[in-house]
Amino acid sequence: RMPPLSACYNLLDFETVARQVMKNTAWAYYSSGADDEMTMRENHSAFHKIWFRPRVLVDVEHVDFTTSMLGTKCSIPFYVTATALGKLGHPEGEVVLTRAAKKHDVIQMIPTLASCSFDEIVDARQGDQVQWLQLYVNKDRAITKRIVEHAEKRGCKGLFITVDAPQLGRREKDMRSKFDDAGSDVQSGDDGVDRSQGAARAISSFIDPALSWKDIPWFKSITKMPIVLKGVQCVEDALRAVEVGVDGIVVSNHGGRQLDTARSGIEVLAEVMPALRERGWEKRIEVFVDGGVRRATDILKALCLGAKGVGIGRPFLFAMSSYGQDGVERAMQLLKDEMEMNMRLIGATCVEDLNPSLLDTRGLLAG
Ligand code: FNR
Repeated sequence: RMPPLSACYNLLDFETVARQVMKNTAWAYYSSGADDEMTMRENHSAFHKIWFRPRVLVDVEHVDFTTSMLGTKCSIPFYVTATALGKLGHPEGEVVLTRAAKKHDVIQMIPTLASCSFDEIVDARQGDQVQWLQLYVNKDRAITKRIVEHAEKRGCKGLFITVDAPQLGRREKDMRSKFDDAGSDVQSGDDGVDRSQGAARAISSFIDPALSWKDIPWFKSITKMPIVLKGVQCVEDALRAVEVGVDGIVVSNHGGRQLDTARSGIEVLAEVMPALRERGWEKRIEVFVDGGVRRATDILKALCLGAKGVGIGRPFLFAMSSYGQDGVERAMQLLKDEMEMNMRLIGATCVEDLNPSLLDTRGLLAG
């Protein structure tokens, strides 16, 4: 029933396999979006509103897509974004992603709500491998302060504060799955979690809905890690992020799991970057985008618009759940292969060559 790994030719193939082989509770948690899942679908399909304007007769014998994000060199401009509850999909959880990321020289963002402990995920790091921390801010700031200080002490190189989740979205597939999977390992609660509202809502009641712009100076006072706001969704907030002096933003709607009918990340990026450039602020902040990135062409479109890098979530979860570390490594290799070919085909030899003139965004702007 399980196709061989070599039969997965692109990132979407892992989703097809995962749907067949994953336990329903895990599939429901990973694959779901909020409400009608309009934003989740739009994240992916918005990339199809942008077309390339390739340049020809460029010497593309050698192409180089190495780059840096928040001061860390990496092999390709994507990172493994934070996704909670890794052990739903694989018995070893997030450390599987850590090992695959090491093989490919890719940065991993560690979720606050990981299944493995934070220290287990840090201990799985090898050599000079780099990790960031995704932070859900606790109502009890003393707890948050301890988490942040500990992460810095353990060598995390970036603090990504999630700002799009004052309350967790309703993912109805996830909420329903408790009925389908009654009696399974996950359901029997070996992690002590009440799943009556779905896996996600059960574990998120500590998140502080009162978090506001006023708190940002406090974060700056407790850490030297670069601070990035994850979940910015319009130009006004992007400009405000520069004004309060954070180091970066992730233009993101949480993979369509929060506000349904919020715009796609790539569309918001197209709104944000020209405004930053107009003010000469594009160097004051690193802009990342996530949501629906499945192809190297998606990564290239984001970089042409001005993103420093992109986050990828579900595809690595599906690859991990289906094939373990080998699956995640293959997914990363497929993206590298696609990247090399597509840079040649658009006539770009390095990430500095990527700019808006390589894109036709009229379809995106026209809606
Ligand atoms: C997430 N995401 C997320 N974000 C966050 O800040 N904290 C978290 O705990 C989680 N957990 C989480 C679990 C699962 C199963 C998914 C799919 C996503 C959002 C994630 O970081 C990212 O914004 C999206 O996953 C990007 O979209 P794609 O690549 O999954 O389409």
